Amino acid sequence: MSTTNRKHLLGLEGMSAEDLTRMLDTAESFKEVSERPVKKVPALRGTTIANLFFESSTRTRISFELAEKRLSADSVNFSVIGSSVSKGETLRDTAENIQAMKVDMIVIRHSAAGAPHFLAGLLEASVVNAGDGAHEHPTQGLLDMFTMRERWGSFAGRKVVIVGDVAHSRVARSNIHGLITMGAEVVVCGPPTLIPIDIEKLGVTVETDLRTALEDADAVNVLRIQLERQKAGLFPSVDEYARVWGINSDVLKRAKPDCVVMHPGPMNRGIEIAQDVADGDRSVILDQVTNGVAVRMAVLYLCNGGAAIESEETESAVDAKATKGKQVA
Ligand code: CP
Repeated sequence: MSTTNRKHLLGLEGMSAEDLTRMLDTAESFKEVSERPVKKVPALRGTTIANLFFESSTRTRISFELAEKRLSADSVNFSVIGSSVSKGETLRDTAENIQAMKVDMIVIRHSAAGAPHFLAGLLEASVVNAGDGAHEHPTQGLLDMFTMRERWGSFAGRKVVIVGDVAHSRVARSNIHGLITMGAEVVVCGPPTLIPIDIEKLGVTVETDLRTALEDADAVNVLRIQLERQKAGLFPSVDEYARVWGINSDVLKRAKPDCVVMHPGPMNRGIEIAQDVADGDRSVILDQVTNGVAVRMAVLYLCNGGAAIESEETESAVDAKATKGKQVA
């Protein structure tokens, strides 16, 4: 299915390079909207979007909300606290009630892998996955790729190292699917208890020594260590994790001089990433956050039937397409 008539965004697995490129190109055009004094285009005027967050979020939630406002959509926000979920209402009933209020698009974050797929099969509305369990976080994968492409132009010949708790990371999965499709080399590295068996089948290389993994890397994507994993015995101690797997300026000497450091947030400073690296010259962590708004504008616009916008199109061409809004059924 091409991006121009994609109704849902459930994951990056199975998306073609052409589809990924169209999404990134459209995001590139929308990025400029956030630089304007009036940060708004009418692309989603008349479209109602419900943001259903069943899990905590800072970046993704605010980013989607801003993307919706900048596209002139009407949006409503749902969180578990204060909702009827706390009275035992099911996901199905919650979603069907929201759809009964004539919502056009649903953005969902849920702790259960597959929750967005369940809603996509149930509802008429477009569904966008904002993170489902340990499965996928497709808009994070896209914004990470956008941030890399902004620096490199293309992915061919580039080496991306993903470090940390790969087994429980939806960010890692979406990055792997997208980057491999776009022709990058992907190396995963972390404690063996946090690397899934058979992950090589996704096209990545596993490296258990961090210094070897970082050799000639163009980007290192540092995953958040989920501290509850220590209680489960999946790594021995936070101090040891920081010593063996933490990204600091010394270990980064192995990477290329212009290697970028990425993190999806929220960061555990001093554990998976050293303070000076998080705030240093190589860090593009806040660029990722900035780019997240443009990427989510593109995803919402395209899933609502908007016509793809090429990266080189002018400001007035973006305005013309965004004004026309839905062009593809
Ligand atoms: N990257 C990310 O998903 O952050 P939040 O949990 O704050 O949304």
